Amino acid sequence: MKKRIIIGNWKMNPRTLEEAKNIYKSTKTVADKLKSVSVVMCPPFVYTSTLLNSRTETTVKIGSQDAYFEEQGSYTGEISPVMLKDLGVEYAIIGHSERRSKGETDEMISKKVALCLEVGIIPILCIGEKVRDEGGSHLDFIKDQVKNSLNKVPKKNISKLIIAYEPIWAIGAKEAMMPESIYEMSLFIKKVLSDMYGHDEGISTPILYGGSVNFRNALDIFNKGKIDGLLVGRESVNITGFVELLKTVDTI
Ligand code: 13P
Repeated sequence: MKKRIIIGNWKMNPRTLEEAKNIYKSTKTVADKLKSVSVVMCPPFVYTSTLLNSRTETTVKIGSQDAYFEEQGSYTGEISPVMLKDLGVEYAIIGHSERRSKGETDEMISKKVALCLEVGIIPILCIGEKVRDEGGSHLDFIKDQVKNSLNKVPKKNISKLIIAYEPIWAIGAKEAMMPESIYEMSLFIKKVLSDMYGHDEGISTPILYGGSVNFRNALDIFNKGKIDGLLVGRESVNITGFVELLKTVDTI
């Protein structure tokens, strides 16, 4: 059985290394016992080494929240996918809307995704519309975002890609998107990928949903939304909620 992927995007949380270690430890204790779920945690970069070194085995994978599009050089403050790989990081969130809103463009994102795939970091490409209207313009928007973000990725590298669909209006909100609409969007994204790379590639690329997921709505999102995984924000740093979420999804 293909495992469901649950990725925690800690964003700029928590405040201290001690708290980060606690979240990691509690999650790992539960994750080690899960049968049908694989867990990835994306802490702030400063905590990465400590968390990686505290691992005794590899049930919980570590990801970063970004990666730059050059391997090394004069790029103050940036972190390259080569450095991440060397450290033992296996995933990188690329193009999160909170970074796009600070000026990250599809062009930059396409270079980041391509370099990650080349050096062996699995990119979690984030896409999502800001608003929806009755005319369905969000579909064209999403199609463009996928095409532009992947225009430097050759077919031979596509098999490692993960896409996270995160409608911006559902991030940090009270309610997640309706599971039926999540299903519709995941099919739409797979169709766009199929047109670009071929049927098998389109079907097999994992599509995750993100936006106000918690332990209460996760089951419904999987059952009716039929997605391959979740990208979880706030609930991933809430120990009790996240542990509950993992256990719940493992029952499916
Ligand atoms: P929330 O789960 O806090 O809405 O955040 C979603 C998100 O942006 C994950 O990347």
